[in-house]
Amino acid sequence: MTISNGTVSSNALELCCDDITEQIQSIAAQSQYGPSAENIARSVLEAYSPSPQNTLKNVLFLALHNNLVLGFLEMRITYDDAEIDFVAADSAFRRLGIGKWLVSNALQYANKQKAKRIILEVGETNEAAIDLYKNVGFRQIATRSKYYKNGENAFILEKRTENTTE
Ligand SMILES: CC(C)(COP(=O)(O)OP(=O)(O)OC[C@H]1O[C@@H](n2cnc3c(N)ncnc32)[C@H](O)[C@@H]1OP(=O)(O)O)[C@@H](O)C(=O)NCCC(=O)NCCS
Repeated sequence: MTISNGTVSSNALELCCDDITEQIQSIAAQSQYGPSAENIARSVLEAYSPSPQNTLKNVLFLALHNNLVLGFLEMRITYDDAEIDFVAADSAFRRLGIGKWLVSNALQYANKQKAKRIILEVGETNEAAIDLYKNVGFRQIATRSKYYKNGENAFILEKRTENTTE
């Protein structure tokens, strides 16, 4: 399997399909940590028609194959920080490198945007995601107690980019 594209914002959407929002929503719904359908619809809309307030600071990365969305990643860039809000691969296509590919693309993009670090929250029992992030160089810097609705703690992970010497 090859993944054909994974560009940002409107470029990716022009290459894709009419039902992109539904496809992304369906992947997000496979995870207890996924954003709501409403938030996904908003992200897609923002990515499709970037406003002056959203000059590629809210970014949607897609793993596309034959007009099918196999995975996606949402990221925000605020001043020196890039924050990965969510990443997911379709459950039928996991352990094939999609998650790592999406995170690697997001890291490269954050670096080019001059972000000094990338941060994110991840559920402390979410072994697959924690392994994925550690695999690409994130480290744990804090814990947020009872962060999720089900009472689960969140780990805060960070990766410094090439734009910082600290
Ligand atoms: C986390 C997730 C995105 C990983 O996507 P993926 O495409 O299956 O991951 P990859 O194939 O790119 O795996 C890359 C590395 O991540 C780690 N990893 C991925 N899945 C794993 C699992 N089930 N158990 C342990 N480690 C895992 C491994 O280190 C793996 O490297 P390896 O295959 O060489 O061992 C996927 O499991 C998912 O969509 N989960 C539900 C959504 C979610 O919880 N997102 C995180 C929110 S913060």
